[in-house]
Formats: sequence, structure tokens, C-alpha cells
Amino acid sequence: MSDNIEMKISDRAKHASEIVCSYLPPVQGFARTVCEAMAYSVEAGGKRLRPILMEETYKLFGGTSSVIEPFMAAIEMIHTYSLIHDDLPALDNDDYRRGRKTSHVVFGEAMAILAGDALLNYAYETACKAFAMDTDVKKVADAMCILASKPGIYGMIGGQVVDVEMTGKTLSREQLEYVYENKTGALIEASMMIGATLAGADDSQLEKIRRIASDVGMAFQIQDDILDICGDSALLGKPTRSDEENGKVTYVTIHGIEESSKYVNMLSERAVKGLEEIGGDHEFLKELIVWLIHRDR
Ligand code: IPE
Ligand code: IPE
Ligand code: MG
Ligand code: MG
Ligand code: MG
Repeated sequence: MSDNIEMKISDRAKHASEIVCSYLPPVQGFARTVCEAMAYSVEAGGKRLRPILMEETYKLFGGTSSVIEPFMAAIEMIHTYSLIHDDLPALDNDDYRRGRKTSHVVFGEAMAILAGDALLNYAYETACKAFAMDTDVKKVADAMCILASKPGIYGMIGGQVVDVEMTGKTLSREQLEYVYENKTGALIEASMMIGATLAGADDSQLEKIRRIASDVGMAFQIQDDILDICGDSALLGKPTRSDEENGKVTYVTIHGIEESSKYVNMLSERAVKGLEEIGGDHEFLKELIVWLIHRDR
């Protein structure tokens, strides 16, 4: 992988971080502890993949306004809440995230639960700011609907529910696909679909983007499972072997690393092809999708 793409990704991540962090609530008042916990997990960093995908898709369809910014912040807040709750002792019970001790280790379990709740709710408070920024209220309302539904029971939460229920059990191919498409795919779909929606993409373009994002999400999660086995926890900023410790059946435990890698490659090639069919300036998005399948973090 060329240094060039690493640099481009790091620039975009820095830009996304600035936007996301600028929307965090001030750490003050009687509830300041929860604000501190929110900032602790958001400011820890991470790849900022979702806001980057959102902004790039927005630009792909010709978007130029700052209306995208509160949505970039909102999706990263929702993603960060999902990580705080995913790491809780009742779920994956992991002690490290984004190179720091997890929220429940630092702030206690009760405050970590509340910080997750707070981030989820504050995401919508943040995204609602877009209504005052753009005259095209319909587009903002459509984007809000995506932001409300994809993280929910027909999206991320649905995937996490089956992930938790099936821990230690063998999943059918259908169940496994459901888990991946939802626990991970849904927020990636939301990111790209919100970008497209705010830029005025039509229904057929939106469906094409959803399919591309779904492939990216599936590839992303399988690569995450591979890294859980072969990755370096210092680079990842989170523990490896978490899936094994928790008795999780993943795509990799069923199909092995080699076949899983092939599948990740196929999905990412299909996503790239999909982008080519849409046209426009998608060079960086393409490079990003390819980078994701070779990532080490
Ligand atoms: C981790 O997401 C959770 C999964 C869906 C696999 P990321 O790998 O995007 O985590 P950060 O945001 O970079 O920390
Ligand atoms: C998490 O999947 C997906 C979420 C909704 C957070 P994992 O449990 O595999 O994610 P990591 O490995 O802890 O980041
Ligand atoms: Mg999990
Ligand atoms: Mg986990
Ligand atoms: Mg994982």
C-alpha cells in the first residue's frame, strides 16, 4: 500500500475528527461526568471511516455545503456509543479500545452505559442542527430517517442482538449474514446513504450506494474478524483473540482465513465496480475501499 493513500486517509481522518469533536457537548454542569466520558471515547480517535465515507459520498454526488457536518458528527457519535456498549462486560467484555482503557474500566459500568446512551441521543440533537442550516428541509428530513432507522432494530441493534444470542452457538450462513449486514453493515450503509441523500441522489442511485456500502460493511467485518486472529493489538488499539475468548462463531471460524480473505477481496472488487458504474470522481473512495481490505488496524 502506497504512503500516498495512508497520507490521504490520515488527512481525511484528521478533518473528520475536527468536525466530530467540535460538536461534542461542553464538559460542565452537574452531569459533567457523562460529558467527560463521551469525550473520552470520541476523542480517543479511531479510523473515522464512517464520517469519511459519508463526506466522500456527499461530494461524489455533487454536495458542497456544510450541512453534511452535523451528520458526520452524529454517525461517529452513534458508532462510538456502539463500541462502548459492545465492550461492556455483559457483551464482549473488552478492556481496551482505540488504544485506551475502555469506558467501563475508567468510568465504571453504570457511567459507560449512560455515556453510550448519551452519545446516541446527542447524535440526534447534533444532526437536528442541520435543519437550521439548509433550506432543503426535505433532504435533511430524509437523512434524519436513515440516521434513525439504520442504527436500530432493523439495523445495528438487530445484528448485535443475534450476535449476543448466538454466542457459543453455530450460526447458519443466513444468520451469520444477518449479523454482519446489520451489526456492521447498517452504519456503513447509513453513512454512504446519508451522504448521497443530502447531495440529492435519486432513489435508484441511493439503492446502488446502499449495495456498495453493504459489500464494504461485510468485507470490513470479515477483515475485523481476521485481524482479531492475526492482528497486532498495539496497532489495532483493542485486544486480539476477543472472538475466541467469547466463543464467537465468525465467518473466519467457519471458512478459514484463506477463503475469508478471498471473499473480502471479491466483495471489495464488487464495491469498486459499483462505484465505477455510478461514475463521477470516485478515485479516493475506490482507494479507501481497497485500503480497508489490506488494513492492519
Ligand atoms: C469497530 O469499528 C467495530 C466494527 C464494526 C468492526 P472500527 O474498526 O471502524 O473502529 P474505529 O472507529 O476505527 O475505532
Ligand atoms: C462490533 O463487532 C460491531 C458493533 C456494532 C460495535 P465486534 O464486536 O467484532 O467489534 P470489535 O472487534 O469489538 O471492534
Ligand atoms: Mg461484538
Ligand atoms: Mg467487540
Ligand atoms: Mg471484532
